[in-house]
Amino acid sequence: MFDQRLIEAATAVQAQFDAALGALPDVPVVEAMAHATNGGKRLRGFLVLESARLHGVSAEAAIWPATGIEALHAYSLVHDDLPCMDDDDLRRGAPTVHVKWDEATAVLAGDALQTLAFEMIARPEAGSGDVRADLALSLAKASGAEGMVLGQALDIAAESANRPLTLDEITALQRGKTGALIEWSATAGARMAQADLGPLQTYSRALGLAFQIADDVLDVTGDAATVGKATGKDADAGKATFVALLGLDEAKRRADDLVTQACDALDVYQAKADVLRDAARFVVTRKK
Ligand code: IPE
Ligand code: IPE
Ligand code: MG
Ligand code: MG
Ligand code: MG
Repeated sequence: MFDQRLIEAATAVQAQFDAALGALPDVPVVEAMAHATNGGKRLRGFLVLESARLHGVSAEAAIWPATGIEALHAYSLVHDDLPCMDDDDLRRGAPTVHVKWDEATAVLAGDALQTLAFEMIARPEAGSGDVRADLALSLAKASGAEGMVLGQALDIAAESANRPLTLDEITALQRGKTGALIEWSATAGARMAQADLGPLQTYSRALGLAFQIADDVLDVTGDAATVGKATGKDADAGKATFVALLGLDEAKRRADDLVTQACDALDVYQAKADVLRDAARFVVTRKK
């Protein structure tokens, strides 16, 4: 069921991007936005749609924040790949935006994808005024200087730090750079239903950390053709990762523990949350 639901989410998100970007001017920066939003697992969009389903929120409403978070995530990847950040040429099996176009186009496509995210969340179809304001406010906080951007800044700073980061520091870094958007995604459905965020918050905090550990493991064990991006780069760049600090085996063990924690957090939803439990298992077994 999980595989099918992930495909459904990816198809729905892609259709929404096609419509939204097709309505924009036919200029290189929009082509670059289309390129950057193409492909990917769509895990964040899936989490929005499934947390909405869990709370009886319609897919017609939830597709807006689901596509919005994928736009925001795509922006973060375009900027993450820039020469001044991770300097990557390959993303989702294709050339990165600054390679296919140029750096200015990559910066601007990222900027426009970030604002597109908030535009989609503010759409009347996404819910009441109160719900949309809550989604936008929480996404702004998750994305910015106390969320994803903070994590990215800590990640870059760690490359030139004069001592290895501690476990607590790496955990804080990863909670920001990866965890914040995953938490926002998995709690979005509860926000839309104005329900308790607690169980999904506990779930997604564990899920986000497990997800980034798996990303760090794939950098060591994966090959670029399968993963769709360059591998074997984190150690050379001096990235602060769980794998660097704990080694592969212990990092994987912790990721497995986090999956158990994530699944346990969903007890109140009983079998209705099985697809989210499968998602947690997928996060650490994925090959890309
Ligand atoms: C990659 O995210 C960036 C990280 C936060 C580690 P994903 O692995 O979700 O990338 P796509 O969207 O599937 O390409
Ligand atoms: C990127 O983390 C996280 C964000 C884009 C916010 P990484 O730098 O580890 O992601 P990859 O490995 O390039 O996908
Ligand atoms: Mg990075
Ligand atoms: Mg990177
Ligand atoms: Mg990585």
